[in-house]
Amino acid sequence: MKKSILTSLSIMTLTSLFSLSAHAEVNVDAAKALAKENGCFRCHGTDKDKDGPAWNKVSAKYKGDAKAIDKLLEHLSSGKNVKFADGHEEAHKILKTEDPKDAKNLVEFILSL
Ligand code: HEC
Repeated sequence: MKKSILTSLSIMTLTSLFSLSAHAEVNVDAAKALAKENGCFRCHGTDKDKDGPAWNKVSAKYKGDAKAIDKLLEHLSSGKNVKFADGHEEAHKILKTEDPKDAKNLVEFILSL
């Protein structure tokens, strides 16, 4: 199981090098499982606002931004302060992964919404 995920992620990385539509190769199940493990869905829905913005809105915000993947990877690794709807600020959750490719897959999933 683990091996097949890794294999498909490496294939994904290879194809994204040669393809303009990198989003087509997102492993949706792996992305959702990782988000669930990290508690991301407590504050985000794929298409519903919770304490944090719905991820399809995040995707819309970054449409056409060539640096979107890098910016979101930075967002998920830096733990910078974010503003909540009630006005208070706190450090954003840092995404924990065993493999940096899994973080990229999650970011590409978010941007594909
Ligand atoms: C405690 C609530 C909370 C949790 C848990 C949380 N987030 Fe967020 N997240 C927020 C808030 C609030 C914002 C809005 C930041 C802003 O607009 O300033 C945000 C913003 C974002 C953004 C958009 C950043 C941008 O540049 O627009 C992404 C992507 C994101 N979160 C992904 C995740 C992922 C992935 C996880 C799980 C590792 C996660 N979040 C866990 C509250 C949370």
